[in-house]
Amino acid sequence: MANRIFSLLLLLCAGNLIAQNTSVTNIEPRVEALLAKMTVEEKIGQLTQMPGDISTGTDVAKDDLLNQIRTGKLGSILSHTNFQNKITMQRVATKETRLGIPLVFGFDVIHGYKTIFPIPLAQAATWEPDLVERIERIAAEEASADGQNWTFSPMVDISRDPRWGRNMEGSGEDPYLGSLIGVARVRGFQGNDLAANNTVAACAKHYAGYGFVEAGREYNTVDMSEQRLRELILPPFEAVAKAGSATFMNAFNTLNGTPASMNKHLVTDILRGEWTWKGLVVSDWNSFGEVIVHGAAADEEDASAKCLGAGSDMDMAGGTFQKGMKKALDNGKVTQAQLDEAVRRVLRFKFMLGLFDDPFRYLDPKRREATLFKEEYRKTAREAAAKSMVLLKNDGGLLPLNPAGPFKKIAIIGPLVDSRTYKDYMSFWTLGLGTPYYDSTKVITPAMALKPALEALGFQVTVAGVNLTAASDEAAFKDAIQASKDADLIIACVGERGLDCGESRSVSDINLPRGQERLLKIATLNGNRPTVMVLFNSRPLTFQWANENIESILVAWQPGFETGNALTDILTGKVNPGGKLPVTFPYSLGQVPIYYNALNTGRPQEKQGQMWTSGYLDGPATPAYPFGFGLSYTTFAYEAPKVNKTKIKSGETLEVSVTVTNTGKIAGSETVQCYIRDLVADISRPLKELKGFEKITLAPGEKRTVKFKITENDLAYWNTEAKRKADPGKFKVFTGGNSRDVQEVEFSLEK
Ligand code: BGC
Repeated sequence: MANRIFSLLLLLCAGNLIAQNTSVTNIEPRVEALLAKMTVEEKIGQLTQMPGDISTGTDVAKDDLLNQIRTGKLGSILSHTNFQNKITMQRVATKETRLGIPLVFGFDVIHGYKTIFPIPLAQAATWEPDLVERIERIAAEEASADGQNWTFSPMVDISRDPRWGRNMEGSGEDPYLGSLIGVARVRGFQGNDLAANNTVAACAKHYAGYGFVEAGREYNTVDMSEQRLRELILPPFEAVAKAGSATFMNAFNTLNGTPASMNKHLVTDILRGEWTWKGLVVSDWNSFGEVIVHGAAADEEDASAKCLGAGSDMDMAGGTFQKGMKKALDNGKVTQAQLDEAVRRVLRFKFMLGLFDDPFRYLDPKRREATLFKEEYRKTAREAAAKSMVLLKNDGGLLPLNPAGPFKKIAIIGPLVDSRTYKDYMSFWTLGLGTPYYDSTKVITPAMALKPALEALGFQVTVAGVNLTAASDEAAFKDAIQASKDADLIIACVGERGLDCGESRSVSDINLPRGQERLLKIATLNGNRPTVMVLFNSRPLTFQWANENIESILVAWQPGFETGNALTDILTGKVNPGGKLPVTFPYSLGQVPIYYNALNTGRPQEKQGQMWTSGYLDGPATPAYPFGFGLSYTTFAYEAPKVNKTKIKSGETLEVSVTVTNTGKIAGSETVQCYIRDLVADISRPLKELKGFEKITLAPGEKRTVKFKITENDLAYWNTEAKRKADPGKFKVFTGGNSRDVQEVEFSLEK
């Protein structure tokens, strides 16, 4: 378990996976034959991608798409929803151009295509890579049936900053969990055969460093040591590269001064060199053009030469290559060989997808009709949404709601009780729905599911929404306050709107937005009425008052189409919560960045207020909820971990075992986590690093021993010379149900 990634990498390295991941044969000679016939203009065309009927970025020129396709100026279309148009475009590309090269259609399939699942960060909170793979399988079924060949996913950016709006697209702060989830996504999308008509190519993004934009501000500067880059940012990218992700996408940001799109160190040295990855690198939206704005290239000619020269291949949306590549070639800034190599990668990709053999294999109207919005997909959406919810607090066992208990009258209140605007319960990245506002008939809101379910159990239920604005006052809260007065238990559905989540949605305050804390205070009579707070969120938020005054807090994230049903499953106890946080929830914004795998500092703080130690004068240095945290309606007791030996040598495996007992009255799932600490190394090492986890389900009273295997590879780290090595000496291994509440045992590595 602990070295799942390592064994996976060994397995995947056993051959040229990129070439194997398709049933199409004889690709290389076909690529060469075609390349030999192409003009320079046609080659540049193949490296150019333009947006279709929706835009996900700054304004770009995309005039007269059909004409551009007909004249060989485009090789790919992104973000196009209209199915009939896709057929027309593909017909023009294959029947009306000189060489008949098919188009490849790319799309952001981020948490489902038509059937919308919980946001990716929520999916990571399930700690179930297999479930994530099943989700992406469905997303691929739908997307491919609608004519998409390629998804711009997974986003495997590690982030420690909740201000950054794109947290929701990743798997949180840990590179180990992030790698496993990333690989699961690639497998789900691509299956075993890229050419199958129900798979889509994956795209690992954003390469690299984007999750570390300064101050969490979108598109901002990223500066970090090579050591941190390799230790924290690159592992998930390497894992998905080795798992055969067909493509990669450059990040928007600069990394240590050089824009990622023209960062030779990242693309050529590491990705193509060290990892021997053979796929296609696409820019982000106009990120080739933006190197000019970064001040790192003079004009389109310079930008084309620098981006292609770094090893990037396809120009998304900006038209920079259209404007500058020919000049760069004529002026000797780019060689014919460099251009050909990039074109080869595009052609190879299209062959692998099977597009040359049948350009219309993803454009079958009957399959489309039979596949989109299949009712059975909702089962997985409901399972995932319920499993992703994280119970942070449950004082007095208020949950699950018990009809035989003291509370009979329930008020379900708040702005997110029954909302039908702003893509609530979803995110900006639900582009497959084809409208800026979601189709409200598809989403089960909390009120729709929870009210009838609670009534059927014998509760009296009132629902009162709140129309929240930036300036909401008591008048806006009127109905909610009234409903609360008449109730003896409140369920408050609060948090972020769907459109608060995703790209270009950074925030400078992570408190419950838009006056909702005031709403909570008034409606709960200052915490004097039993309350369940259901938080809809795309990132860690701070809610100190609620933490201190509200009995039960459930993180529901943005759960997607099955929001109401999944929430009902959890609140009524049909499903016992088992989600665990994939990110630290800070106590206050000033603590950001705060994360579990931190270094010790020379002056670690033991207690708040202790002077001359690493802390704050005005608050704790510890988070509100640590990484890996999540409660259940039952309880689990952990015995101390045991090791099968106290010393291991290179090549040996340490076995760590821990026995966990369900000490409560109902069955429940627990994610047993295993961390290590290198006590003395050549550089300072994190206080804890996740090295394994296993999700188990135990009946009441049941006991299970979980085993983790640790090898030298798990103890290795990247040093300051960009070398990976393990230092002999003492280590600690910790086991527990989250990154804070653990028990430990020591062992040593001998060489
Ligand atoms: C985003 C990418 C996305 C692309 C295409 C960009 O703005 O950063 O993640 O794939 O748009 O929509």
